[in-house]
Amino acid sequence: MRLSRILAIFVCILVISPAGFAQKKKAAAPAAPAEGTLTPAAIQKALDEAYEKFKDVKEGKNADYIKELARVDPNIYGIAIVTTDGTIYTKGDLQSAVSIQSISKVFTMARVIEEQGPRVIMDKIGVDATGMRFNSIVAVELQKGKEINPLVNPGAIASTSLVNGSDSAAKWKSILQTHSDFAGRQLGLDGPVYISEAGDNLRNQAIAHLLLAYGRMYFDPVQATDIYTKQCAISVNAKDLAVMAATLANGGVNPVTKKKIVSPETVKYTLPVMATAGLYDDSGQWLYATGVPAKSGVGGGIIAVVPGKFGIAVISPPLSPAGNSVKAIYTIRAIIEALGVNPYQITPKQ
Ligand code: DON
Repeated sequence: MRLSRILAIFVCILVISPAGFAQKKKAAAPAAPAEGTLTPAAIQKALDEAYEKFKDVKEGKNADYIKELARVDPNIYGIAIVTTDGTIYTKGDLQSAVSIQSISKVFTMARVIEEQGPRVIMDKIGVDATGMRFNSIVAVELQKGKEINPLVNPGAIASTSLVNGSDSAAKWKSILQTHSDFAGRQLGLDGPVYISEAGDNLRNQAIAHLLLAYGRMYFDPVQATDIYTKQCAISVNAKDLAVMAATLANGGVNPVTKKKIVSPETVKYTLPVMATAGLYDDSGQWLYATGVPAKSGVGGGIIAVVPGKFGIAVISPPLSPAGNSVKAIYTIRAIIEALGVNPYQITPKQ
């Protein structure tokens, strides 16, 4: 008998024999925490443990292409979870605020979907990952302004341009109100960050003009870029971001204020874009590790949404080369794992 056949028979015996089965079981991954273990104590413990584990991580570097961001304290480290019943759990620095940056793209996209339906995002922007950096011009050029998404700069500026409002002031008012409603309190602008980026955003202006050239910009490109720059400078702390994420986790109703901000239908179309492109060229790695939609910003924040359960946010300014907070990635990954809430982690029915 050929050696390969002998080997095949041996493997079959191993798999179907009780001894083989026992061996396979032994090698299986540790079981997920059982349903119903999302208790207040378990949530707080997961936050406390992640904080202790990662508080001394020094990897990454503040964004400095927006000059004011380089001046932000790199030691800010705040974690918050808000559950869909409105309970708030925190650890670390909840006082310090950072600019929301690209996390704002999620809420402006949600505003557009709420106002004009999901089709408009598909038809006028796109919902595909570019696989490139968030401010890639090549990504726009390659597809002639098509097949991008609202979470990279080009799609986000296009999304801002689509928000209802006859002039720039009306669009900005609507965007700031949307963010405030999601956060459950009146948010404001980080003036120095806005001025710093507005004085130095020729690249985003170029992107907006390139989109205009391809018929994919839906308002004056200079003004749309300015509104977009303002929305990126909205000031938030970790708790604000967690409430915003929890509002998505709760189907569009803010679980703290109980106010309906957007419809469940809008959330249904917002979360998949976050899953596809929320962490840019690292989105695949993120989804592989956590299974949940998320969004980062170069201010140092990341939000993640565990649908129906909770929103989580971490702020820590030093970033990876892809522009995502290093410590926030470590922290949220660890907490999702500790709480067993990766939706792809399925306990088989026996
Ligand atoms: O337009 C920019 O470059 C910034 N205002 C936002 C970029 C950003 O946050 C990318 N996210 N990680």
